Amino acid sequence: MHDLLVVGGGVMGAALALGMGGSQGGPRSVAILDHNPEKAHAIASRLPGGVVVNKLEPAKIYLLAVKPHHIRGVLSTLPPHSKAISIAAGVRLDQLRAWAPAGCEIVRAMPNTACEVGAGVTAVCSEDDDGSLLTAAQELFALVGDVFIVPEKQFDVVSAMSGSGPAYVFLLIEAMQEAGITLGLSASLALDLARATVRGAGLLAHAKREDPRNLRLAVTSPGGMTAAAIAVFEEFGLRHQTLEAIRSATQRAQALSERAGQ
Ligand SMILES: NC(=O)c1ccc[n+]([C@@H]2O[C@H](COP(=O)([O-])OP(=O)(O)OC[C@H]3O[C@@H](n4cnc5c(N)ncnc54)[C@H](OP(=O)(O)O)[C@@H]3O)[C@@H](O)[C@H]2O)c1
Repeated sequence: MHDLLVVGGGVMGAALALGMGGSQGGPRSVAILDHNPEKAHAIASRLPGGVVVNKLEPAKIYLLAVKPHHIRGVLSTLPPHSKAISIAAGVRLDQLRAWAPAGCEIVRAMPNTACEVGAGVTAVCSEDDDGSLLTAAQELFALVGDVFIVPEKQFDVVSAMSGSGPAYVFLLIEAMQEAGITLGLSASLALDLARATVRGAGLLAHAKREDPRNLRLAVTSPGGMTAAAIAVFEEFGLRHQTLEAIRSATQRAQALSERAGQ
C-alpha cells in the first residue's frame, strides 16, 4: 500500500508531492497518477520513493490535486472507506462527502504555491468525528509550510487571502520592477531589487512577529522618502483595492463551488 497517492500531477500536485515526499519524516512511498504519464514520471523520478501509477491503487491517504470540475469524477472512483484530502478550490466538504463512496473520510485543504519551496500556507478543515485524518493532513502540510485549522465557513476568504495571495505579491514585484525601469534602471537590476526586497520584507515580518504597522512606522521618518511613497499608496487607495480584490476572489470561490456542485 502506498503511503500517499497524489491524483493530478499539475502545478499543485507536483509541488506537494515533491515537498512532502522529499521531506525527512514525510511519506516514504508516494504514487503519482495523472492523465499524462510523462507528467507523473517527471515528479516520481525526483522522489526516492516515487512511483507512477495508471489507476487508483490502495493508499493510506489520497491527495486529490485535480481541478474543481474533475474532483467529483475522481472521488467517485475511490475505494470505500478511503482517506482523502481535496485541495480543489471552492468545493465544500458536504459536496466532497456526497460524491465519495460510503465510509470515506475527507479533509478539505487550501495550500498555496509556496509549498514548492517549503514556505507554503495551508488551511485545513474537516467534520470527521475522530479527527485522525485532520491530524495526518496537518502533519503532511507542515512538511511544506505553515498549517492553520480554519472553520469551513471562512474557507472562501482564506482561499482568497493565502491561496491566491502569492499571485498578489508577484504582481507587486512586477509593478515595482516596471516602476524601476520607468525611472531609469535596467530590467534585470529592477527585478533583482524588487524580488529581493519582497523576500527580505516577508522574512522580517515573519521573524519579528510584530504588528506590520510598527515595522512600517519604524522605517518611515515623517517627511522622508518612504513617507512620500506611502502617502501616494494611501491616496490611490491601496487598502481599498486590496479589500475589493480579496472580496472579488472570495466571490469567485463561491461561484466555483456552485459550478462544482452541478
Ligand atoms: N494553482 C494554485 O495556486 C492552487 C492553490 C490552491 C489550490 N489549488 C487547487 O489545486 C487543484 C489543482 O490545480 P493545478 O493548478 O495544480 O491544476 P493543473 O495544473 O491543471 O493540474 C491538474 C492535473 O490533474 C490531471 N487530472 C485531471 N483529472 C484527472 C484524473 N481523473 N486522473 C488523473 N489526473 C487527472 C490534469 O490532467 P489534464 O490537464 O489532462 O486534465 C492535470 O495534469 C485545483 O483544484 C485548484 O483549485 C491550486
